[in-house]
Amino acid sequence: MSFPATRLRRLRMDARLRDLVRETELSPARLIYPLFVGPGRGVRDEIPSMPGQRRYALDTLVEEARAAEADGVRAVILFGIPEKKDEQASGAWAEDGIVQRALRALRESVPGMLRFTDVCLCEYTSHGHCGVVQGNRVANDPTLELLAKTAVSHARAGADLVAPSDMMDGRVGAVRRALDEAGFPDLPILSYAAKYASAFYGPFRDAAQSTPSFGDRRSHQMDPANREEAMREIALDLEEGADVVMVKPALPYLDVLREARTRFDAPLAAYQVSGEYALITAAAERGWVDRRAVALESLLAIRRAGATFIVTYFAREAARWLSQERGK
Ligand code: PBG
Repeated sequence: MSFPATRLRRLRMDARLRDLVRETELSPARLIYPLFVGPGRGVRDEIPSMPGQRRYALDTLVEEARAAEADGVRAVILFGIPEKKDEQASGAWAEDGIVQRALRALRESVPGMLRFTDVCLCEYTSHGHCGVVQGNRVANDPTLELLAKTAVSHARAGADLVAPSDMMDGRVGAVRRALDEAGFPDLPILSYAAKYASAFYGPFRDAAQSTPSFGDRRSHQMDPANREEAMREIALDLEEGADVVMVKPALPYLDVLREARTRFDAPLAAYQVSGEYALITAAAERGWVDRRAVALESLLAIRRAGATFIVTYFAREAARWLSQERGK
């Protein structure tokens, strides 16, 4: 049947009919809010390349998490900016490390908020690499031990989920074993499974001061040209025990998300990264696009492509926007 019998516009004429047939839904429950926490007190330093996003200290982190909770956000993912960095990334797994302290503060003061942690060494190493450097290389197997140690220390401090983002081979298995042995068999792992060596992480590296002092991350993060390889990464991480697998970045990699959705039945996350946030923010500041409309459309597109949930710097604002829309 085709025109004039078929008229697709019939279901688009009335807002209630459009709502009825909508295929994809966006809700605050599907958004994870990334937060940067560092030393000091009363700190709320805006990150220059991510206007609206800040670096918090423990006290202001708690305030921000409370405000986000009031806006409808249910989960945060923490990134630490330690006072001191060294070759062994000791700040990553120290019992009184910045993320460990933040976890305890949030557990105490904002108990309703889910606490996720990024597990990587790049914010804690003096050279800014994601692992132990031997010669000029990031050494895979020695790094696994430190990642596992970091994940266990996050679990002890009150993490509800850990998210390894380093892209070493075998790290999901190493983290799973270490968590099980330490008495956390029920703590889920969200693996940054298909994490690309992307230029879209630039603003994050400003925020976390984690730009490598030499070289780049192409020896472990994925080549942006590859989609099939992402499926191998995802399959391996699921075999090693990942509970959720993630594709990162999001909008420039919707094809990868879609492919993963059709091939795997596990929950699938997407990370709308710092550079994606920066692009929308910059254009909106110039009045070239509507911040709210473009942000919500991007998030909806990421869900439509196949993401079960989304890590996004827009989480707090989007939660507010979405509840306003529902209230209308
Ligand atoms: C590694 C990590 C990075 C991001 C999340 N986890 C940085 C990197 O891989 O260089 C980037 C997130 C973003 O750009 O928003 N700890």
